[in-house]
Amino acid sequence: MVLSRISFISLISFINFARGSPLPEADSHHKHDHVDRRGGTCAFPSEEGMVAVQTSGTNAGWAMHYDQQCSYGSWCPYACKPGQLMAQWDPEVTSYTYPGSQYGGLYCDDNGVLQKPFPEKDYCYDGKGTFIAKNQAGSDVAFCQTVLPGNEEMLIPTLVGSNSDSVLAVPGTDYWASTASHFYVNPPGVSVDDGCKWGSTANPWGNWAPYVAGANMDDNQNTFVKIGWNPVYLEDTSPFKNVKPSYGVRITCDDPSQCEGLPCSIDPSSQDINAVNSTQSADGAGGGAFCVVTAKNGAKANIEVFEV
Ligand SMILES: *[C@@H]1O[C@H](CO)[C@@H](O)[C@H](O)[C@H]1NC(C)=O
Repeated sequence: MVLSRISFISLISFINFARGSPLPEADSHHKHDHVDRRGGTCAFPSEEGMVAVQTSGTNAGWAMHYDQQCSYGSWCPYACKPGQLMAQWDPEVTSYTYPGSQYGGLYCDDNGVLQKPFPEKDYCYDGKGTFIAKNQAGSDVAFCQTVLPGNEEMLIPTLVGSNSDSVLAVPGTDYWASTASHFYVNPPGVSVDDGCKWGSTANPWGNWAPYVAGANMDDNQNTFVKIGWNPVYLEDTSPFKNVKPSYGVRITCDDPSQCEGLPCSIDPSSQDINAVNSTQSADGAGGGAFCVVTAKNGAKANIEVFEV
């Protein structure tokens, strides 16, 4: 499977080191009870905070491609509840390099035992809580977060009800390789089942959704939030490249005095495709226009979804 990598690496400078990625020590005290030797796979363990995704696929819950199993001798990433982050990954991988960037989650060892690489940590932990999705549309909106470390498919769901709010996961610098969280913002009315899986050009959902968003916090309590056009939506071969979405997104702040970079909005009712209303917008990798807002001193920023 070839994935287009649409990472917001412009939010963070990644320095790539070529390094090996030894497996974690198979100490007996790392071992857990979730043994499933049948078929040479490790079953999804449903530990505290985990969310099973794509449960009808053969991976049955893991945040992996729907037909990719958590096989002996492989890393198996998982989704956490909205606002939370996966706290487990290969400790040997500390920079964004392939293939180590896929080694998230738990390690299904050669005996079919799930190893918890950081035994002292929980499976999931709260993000910084500074990025709030506000759905002003008339139906639910599926925010789908990419799995990183993992295959970077947008499998991690946050469903935001109509006229409701939900916290989105914001990593600090302690998250894997200091990376940001990345989301695809689906059209109102698209379910998590339809939006938070690898899609196709049949629908502007999932990896073909028009908009993407991202967030992270630095060590000085600055949260960087980003909205942009999904470069894949705009590609020459995309059937949607001339289709104006029927919804928009914008960043707002409860305390605008703490926010730099406003306005930062995408409103197809008054703007062209790939236009962003901002004083400092830029074109990202693949030509998708985006804007960034910095919410300072731990202030919160919102991403509002509205129909046009
Ligand atoms: C851009 O945002 C500013 C400030 O919110 C607003 O006054 C203006 O009308 C917007 N422009 C477009 C083209 O939407």
